[in-house]
Amino acid sequence: MRILSHPEIARIESWESIDLVAVAAANVILESVREDPEAMITYATGNTMVSVYEATETIVNKTDIPFHRTRAAHLDEYWPANPDLDEFSFVRYLRNRVFKPLQIPLGQRFEIDGTAADPSEEALRYNEVLSRNPVALAILGIGPGGHIGFNERGTSFAQKTHFTRLSQETIDRDHVERGLSTPENVITQGIANIIEAQRILMVAFGAKKGGYLHEALYEPITFECPASVLRIVGKKVIIIIDEAAAAELEKNRISMTS
Ligand code: GLP
Repeated sequence: MRILSHPEIARIESWESIDLVAVAAANVILESVREDPEAMITYATGNTMVSVYEATETIVNKTDIPFHRTRAAHLDEYWPANPDLDEFSFVRYLRNRVFKPLQIPLGQRFEIDGTAADPSEEALRYNEVLSRNPVALAILGIGPGGHIGFNERGTSFAQKTHFTRLSQETIDRDHVERGLSTPENVITQGIANIIEAQRILMVAFGAKKGGYLHEALYEPITFECPASVLRIVGKKVIIIIDEAAAAELEKNRISMTS
């Protein structure tokens, strides 16, 4: 592992393999639970997090670190999405990969309801949930255009949980990676919710994500790149990536400064 230095971000770790990224990220999650057994944790979904949650479960099974008092939130959900029927539902993903394996009781899972008749009302309700349960750790991936959660390019950093339409870039990505029936509308925690967390963990691997991160970390801090907000709260941010992402981050940086 090597540490990449950045003037605003507290810690950037680059690991030699995706497996090592997953274990390092899992250890950050476990540290939050050790510090506060009732920690409220915001979980991201997506392909990146699959190995992170598997690593977390493996360590938990070996060490008996209890999750049964923790509380769980999530970043975003498609709308409409029915976790019992729709493969693409993020709630379905989290129930299967996080909530059930880590034995987080039903009453401590705060799910965004993708079946809500009025998605804007549901966003308001979720915002209330977050204001009553301050988040100890927000786990993030990064998507097209540097999106975090489903906050696309142009989203204000003051935006709270809201109902919105995805960018064409994300819709195209979803159709390739998640299937043609994936909805084009979503409910997402806003950037204002995300940056209120006590600690923020971002995980990314591969060259494409390295490119998104480069824009976020080395180009101007602007609503046009949602992940660039992480530099404003950089003291509480840890970014864990692999060498492929790091190479892209560093290559671009050298070409920018030369
Ligand atoms: C998705 C989700 C994010 C996720 C990101 C990366 O669209 N809204 O919560 O972190 O994009 O997803 P993946 O890991 O599948 O590339």
